[in-house]
Order: sequence, then structure tokens, then C-alpha cells
Amino acid sequence: MANSKIILLLGAIASCAAHFTVPNDDQDMSGLTVNSLPWDKRVEYMRKTNQALYSQSGPCPFAAFGAIIVNHTADEVVCEGANFRTGDPTIHGEISAINACTAKFTAMGMTPTQIYAAWGELSLYTNAESCPMCASAIRWAGFKEYIYGTTIQHNYNVGWGVMTLSSYDVFQQSRQLPGYQTVMLGQILTNETDPLFSWQYNASAPCPNGCFRIPSVARGGSTCSNTTATA
Ligand SMILES: *[C@@H]1O[C@H](CO)[C@@H](O)[C@H](O)[C@H]1NC(C)=O
Ligand SMILES: *[C@@H]1O[C@H](CO)[C@@H](O)[C@H](O)[C@H]1NC(C)=O
Ligand SMILES: *[C@@H]1O[C@H](CO)[C@@H](O)[C@H](O)[C@H]1NC(C)=O
Ligand SMILES: *[C@@H]1O[C@H](CO)[C@@H](O)[C@H](O)[C@H]1NC(C)=O
Ligand SMILES: [Zn+2]
Repeated sequence: MANSKIILLLGAIASCAAHFTVPNDDQDMSGLTVNSLPWDKRVEYMRKTNQALYSQSGPCPFAAFGAIIVNHTADEVVCEGANFRTGDPTIHGEISAINACTAKFTAMGMTPTQIYAAWGELSLYTNAESCPMCASAIRWAGFKEYIYGTTIQHNYNVGWGVMTLSSYDVFQQSRQLPGYQTVMLGQILTNETDPLFSWQYNASAPCPNGCFRIPSVARGGSTCSNTTATA
């Protein structure tokens, strides 16, 4: 009797959680021309973001979070980053890319003041909406633009542990910061970013990029891999 009540209670908590709605996380800017850049250009660079993840972390990394920093005036990728699971909890894809650019600009002889000014000319692309830490870093930097693919809501729905504060809300609360405002474009090319995040907590979901399911003791079930070696 007591046990079945506990099970019912747990069931109720689980089903409530499954229906949690992240406030203001429905910012779909697909198809829009923003800062004179056509939608096709956004798609091209979001694909480059996924390609940068692939080149840094392989075809199906568990932490499938990749980011690039783009100079749209020069039409080129300046830096890339990924969540390398180094053990440092701050090294998300976005922070990794910001660190890569800071190191690159420093090596080019730019002063800290020049580096701070440079962010205002650059666009940060990330294949998943930034967590509040990274969204805050993007606003502290004063990037010209911030473009994301998969939403926090999507990743919540497919089983990721997430902070349920949307970038929209972080940006709304960052208007008083001096310096550049940052234009946000949400949900770009989600048909190609979502599958990178949909398999980690769902054994029925297909693996991306030609990977396949292998048993995983570490993951307590299965994981996606491009090799038959167990993980
Ligand atoms: C699997 O991906 C890794 C990159 O993470 C690559 O080095 C390796 O060659 C790939 N293996 C196969 C069998 O394709
Ligand atoms: C972006 O590219 C333009 C054109 O090549 C260049 O003048 C500018 O310095 C670049 N900005 C940054 C921050 O690298
Ligand atoms: C995803 O959608 C874009 C259009 O927004 C399309 O060009 C692309 O082919 C689609 N990708 C896949 C893998 O279906
Ligand atoms: C798990 O993946 C399957 C196959 O793609 C899908 O039908 C199902 O909705 C997914 N479940 C969740 C909770 O995402
Ligand atoms: Zn983050």
C-alpha cells in the first residue's frame, strides 16, 4: 500500500516534469533576413557549426555541443570550440570558442581593449541554445549576433539536464549592459541540429552521422559510436 503510493507519487512527479515548458523558448527566426544576411547564409554557417563539432569531436560525441565564431564581413569562420568534457564545468562549446578566439587575437598582438571591441563585429553560432552561463558570456562580450539551433526546451524534452532559463530571458535582463546589444536568431536548421542531441537519453532514437548503437557500461545501456569497441 505504502509502496504503491510512493510509485504513484513518483509517476506524478515524472509526468509533471515531462510537461515543463521553458518560458519564452519559442523564438523561431527561421527564414528571416537579419543584418542584411539572407537565411541561406545562416543555414550555411549552422552547418559549419555542426561540421566544426565533427572535426573536433568526431561523428557522434555524447557532448554534441559545438560553436563557431564568425566574421560575416569577411565571410569566414574565425574560431571554433566544442564541449570537450575536460572536467572544467565552464568549458561549454561557446566558452571554448571564446577562449580560442581570445588566444588567437592575443597571439596576433591585439590588446585586451582591441579584443573587447572585436566581439562587437563577430557572430557566435552554436548548434544548441546556450545555457544561462554561456548566454551571459555572450552578452558580457557584446557579440554582434548570437545564432542557435536546437532549443533548451528540445533538449529538456529528450532527457538532458538543463537550466530552464531561455536565452531570450537572459537577453531581456541584459539590456542595461553598456556596449553592444546582441541580435539573437533562434532555431536555425533544427532539422540537422536536433538529431545530434536526441539519442543520448533515448535508446530508441537513431544515431547521427552513420554511427550505430553499441552496449555501454559507462552509460548504463547503450551509446552511439562509429566503432564496434565497447564503451
Ligand atoms: C571514428 O571517428 C573517429 C573520430 O572521432 C575517427 O578518428 C575514426 O577514424 C572513426 N572510425 C571509423 C571506423 O570510421
Ligand atoms: C572582419 O573582417 C573584416 C574584413 O576582412 C576586417 O576588416 C575586420 O577586421 C574583421 N574583424 C575582426 C574582429 O576580425
Ligand atoms: C533541413 O532543412 C533545410 C531547410 O531549412 C534543408 O535545406 C535541409 O536539406 C534539411 N536537412 C535535412 C537533413 O533534411
Ligand atoms: C525516442 O526516440 C523515438 C524514435 O526516434 C521517438 O519516437 C520517441 O518520441 C523518442 N522519445 C523521446 C522521449 O524523445
Ligand atoms: Zn553553456
